[in-house]
Amino acid sequence: MKLTQEEKDILNGSQGETMAKIMKTVVDFGDVFGAKKLVPITHASHFVTSFGIGLLKPLFRTMDEIISAGIKTKEPFTVDPRPIDYKNVKCGLLNKLIFSKIMYKEQKRYEEQLKKIGLKDEKGFTCTSYFEEVGNLPKYGDILGWAESSAVVYANSVIGARCNRNSGMLDLFSAIIGKVPEFGLLTDEGRKADWIIDIQTSKLPEAQILGSAIGLKVMEDVPYIKGLDKFLGTELNDDVKSYLKDFGAASASNGSVALYHVGGLTPEAKEQGKKLIKKDAKVYTITDKELDRVYKSYPILWKNLNAKPKLCFIGCPHLSMSQLKVWATNIINNLKINNRKKVTVRTILTTSPQIADEFRNTELYKKLQKTGVKVSSICPLMYTNNPIAGSKPIITSSNKLRTYSSSRFYKNDDILRIITGGNK
Ligand code: F3S
Repeated sequence: MKLTQEEKDILNGSQGETMAKIMKTVVDFGDVFGAKKLVPITHASHFVTSFGIGLLKPLFRTMDEIISAGIKTKEPFTVDPRPIDYKNVKCGLLNKLIFSKIMYKEQKRYEEQLKKIGLKDEKGFTCTSYFEEVGNLPKYGDILGWAESSAVVYANSVIGARCNRNSGMLDLFSAIIGKVPEFGLLTDEGRKADWIIDIQTSKLPEAQILGSAIGLKVMEDVPYIKGLDKFLGTELNDDVKSYLKDFGAASASNGSVALYHVGGLTPEAKEQGKKLIKKDAKVYTITDKELDRVYKSYPILWKNLNAKPKLCFIGCPHLSMSQLKVWATNIINNLKINNRKKVTVRTILTTSPQIADEFRNTELYKKLQKTGVKVSSICPLMYTNNPIAGSKPIITSSNKLRTYSSSRFYKNDDILRIITGGNK
């Protein structure tokens, strides 16, 4: 990689040994991917590692070294959700012991470390940092060094920012250096589509299943989706952005999509149209039948397939305000229809801390509280990813949570029916 004199100096220790090691890691990473140079990051970072899991000893050691050297990130950053919230997501004594003494015993220490190197604020814990309420919202063309897969795919596709799918710690190091290697999705060529996805369904596909189908088919390639604007329209309003958030997270976790274009809707597709599609692009046609096939292919990892669900998580990635209100309203209305006061499965709606606080001041929240539903800002995956919580029959409407845990996936309408005790 061709480095500037200043970059070479840092590599040779002009800003101390720790900065030299950080620079070396970022440069080595770029070299592996054939990058020619480093380019400046133009917007604040977002980190994927939010959990003080005891096993991550090298991370905590590195953070200590960074702090001792007096190094901070160039801009205040946000980070993925916390793993625990005892107030709103209660757990048994044994589970609590496992969380506090084994799994997340370094949580407090790690959060202190994050604060010292530049965490935005106490509420900076969410995977949806790009929500306006959260305030870490890049703009079109920004260069980013993020790693959280659901945020990377959103930033690239819906905002038109440029970000590779980095890893944990590389997001930290590039936020300190203020630069990332230029390759892949940072280049015009890397943003061209390898696939045409032809939507031939009779209605708007469920975002989580469409994202899953495309992710499973294209893996890390870039898809250009044709025919979705017929259902979603051509404006990126709140509902459409929420749909694309869930769709993208499913494509990034069921495959490893980091950028998609939706014809007539997402910024680059609107700007460049079919010029974004490579000449030899493959075609994948999505029909109702194909989505049904994908849905039915999901393995069910519960020990007892007929178990009654014990816990339900909705909001992975975190719900937008409009989604939260729709879920709350639907739950309240459906309980009324089913002649019930409380949900039949312990249900947690997860959203960013800022949205949760705003929502807790509404009349709708007061009504929702009476149903037994809780609102939290944890990461459901971090909560379920241990032998005790993981052995429970958990249901979810998130295809990401399904993929990385033993939670069972249901479509939105089915989840609503199950948690409100409906028969149909
Ligand atoms: Fe967000 Fe955790 Fe899901 S980081 S996307 S809530 S797995």
